[in-house]
Amino acid sequence: MAQVERWGTRMGLVLAVAGNAVGLGNFLRFPAQAAQNGGGAFLLPYLVAFVLMGIPLLWVEWAIGRHGGQFGHHSTPGMFDKLGPFRWLKYVGVFGLFTTLCIASYYVYIESWALAYVFHSLIGTFREIAPTAFFNQFVGAESESIYYFPGEAILWFVLTLGLNIYILSRGLVKGIEMAAKIGVPLLVLFGIILAIRGLTLPADAAGIVQSPLAGLNFVWEPNLGGLANPKTWLAAAGQVFFTLSVGMGSIHCYAAYLRQRDDIAVNAMAAGWTNECIEIVLGSAILIPIATAYLGLAAVQQATSSGSGFALGFLTLPTLFNNWGWFGPFAGALWFGLLFFAGITSSLAMGQPMMSFLQDEYDWSRVKSAIGFGVATLLLGLFCVVLFPGGAFDEFDFWTGTFALVVFALGEAIIFAWIFGMDRAWDEITRGADMKVPKLFRFVLRYVTPTFLLLVFFGSLINPEGGNWGTAVASLLSGSGWPLAADSVAGKIFHVGSDYSWFDAAGNPTRDLVVDGTRLLLVLVFLGCSFLVYKAWKKKRVSA
Ligand code: TRP
Ligand code: TRP
Repeated sequence: MAQVERWGTRMGLVLAVAGNAVGLGNFLRFPAQAAQNGGGAFLLPYLVAFVLMGIPLLWVEWAIGRHGGQFGHHSTPGMFDKLGPFRWLKYVGVFGLFTTLCIASYYVYIESWALAYVFHSLIGTFREIAPTAFFNQFVGAESESIYYFPGEAILWFVLTLGLNIYILSRGLVKGIEMAAKIGVPLLVLFGIILAIRGLTLPADAAGIVQSPLAGLNFVWEPNLGGLANPKTWLAAAGQVFFTLSVGMGSIHCYAAYLRQRDDIAVNAMAAGWTNECIEIVLGSAILIPIATAYLGLAAVQQATSSGSGFALGFLTLPTLFNNWGWFGPFAGALWFGLLFFAGITSSLAMGQPMMSFLQDEYDWSRVKSAIGFGVATLLLGLFCVVLFPGGAFDEFDFWTGTFALVVFALGEAIIFAWIFGMDRAWDEITRGADMKVPKLFRFVLRYVTPTFLLLVFFGSLINPEGGNWGTAVASLLSGSGWPLAADSVAGKIFHVGSDYSWFDAAGNPTRDLVVDGTRLLLVLVFLGCSFLVYKAWKKKRVSA
């Protein structure tokens, strides 16, 4: 077996894991979710979900990772194989390969927009072409057809992916750790500059309708209203997952490169809280306050109605920066530079699990594994890029960036506490710990987190129309059935609320065809990853 890699320094490790968690989710997705779910009303469920689900899952994943690492497994199939006597356990670990690979395929694409936008901000493109028109032409968002070949965007995508592969091929310390040591401090610096400039916009500046502080108040002012709304809880739980990178196999992978007596309790907390500070403080201090100051709160909520921060981040903000005179192009470069650094330290974390798998279980070299991951990501990514107008990108985001996480997290929470067993689980988490983990968390890990996850799972499965659970229950009781939301899991599977057809009257392929095709592709990727696991273990049995 190749010699085992380890993290260089503790600082480097914490920065790498913080860089893993801090990503586009902190600066685009969080503000969008907060704006959509009532600002301060979102924050309380979000914090509760962080403590009852986020922190326990971080500990579970660090513990599973470090435990697997001692057997030479740095990806989830091998780690799960070591959690109990059952052969099927390693196939639960397939999620950790499938999810990171598929998320990387569309995430690197967004990251490449950020890089392209740094360039275009600096050369003044957004003063010549309105950012909305630019974006639509850049990715083909308004294309009439289901596909579009965005020449320039593909170029940036290939460039960005190549940079990721290059960094990954340099290894843990010289690649990932180095990128985090540069990227994380820079993105915080850029964020602070933008937040200060945005929050101190003078009230009499041209185009200002409201104090930027109104936007900050909206997110921060606690409001108990969200606590009684299941829709808010689902959105909050989803955001906690996405932003902490839990339920994906990525944290496990980073933790597997620890030594057996290295602390995990404090490391996990440090990385988790760093992510939360950057999310709640910086993530809410840029996009929403600046946009609110110029456009008012209602327009901001309107722009995030799809739950996505893309419109605000890539269309609205570059437009508003045009009001900032000579600083405008630099503000654009800072904002998109921040997104790029946030993105790349996360996408590296999506690449490492598949690389580790190929290195550990197939004895591939680091360079060959990096190229293997790169080719797979390129092919899946191009599918998302070209079929973007048909909805392939959104399907990837929903099934792999939203749903698969909940399934995997539910599985690992139950397996860890109930199959691996709570006594061993507790021992794994507390061994070498530099803090005293409150005993209360034994109870939380055993009962509260799995229950919470089950509720989130069923909630997203049968989420009713408009997120209106009260009305839905009343409808069910009165015999009119359950009004499934079109964007619930079941609603999507059964294509609720659309006249479903693969071809239109003129015989042209429709979005429905792309959507079903994308789902088929995702199933095939999952089966493909399972097959790789099957083959690897078959080989082991023969050689053993
Ligand atoms: N947490 C990252 C963010 O906030 C995104 C992310 C999702 C991620 N899944 C991941 C990062 C898996 C690393 C690995 O943007
Ligand atoms: N569902 C959102 C979308 O359509 C998800 C999202 C928002 C997202 N911002 C993101 C996903 C940033 C990845 C990165 O885009």
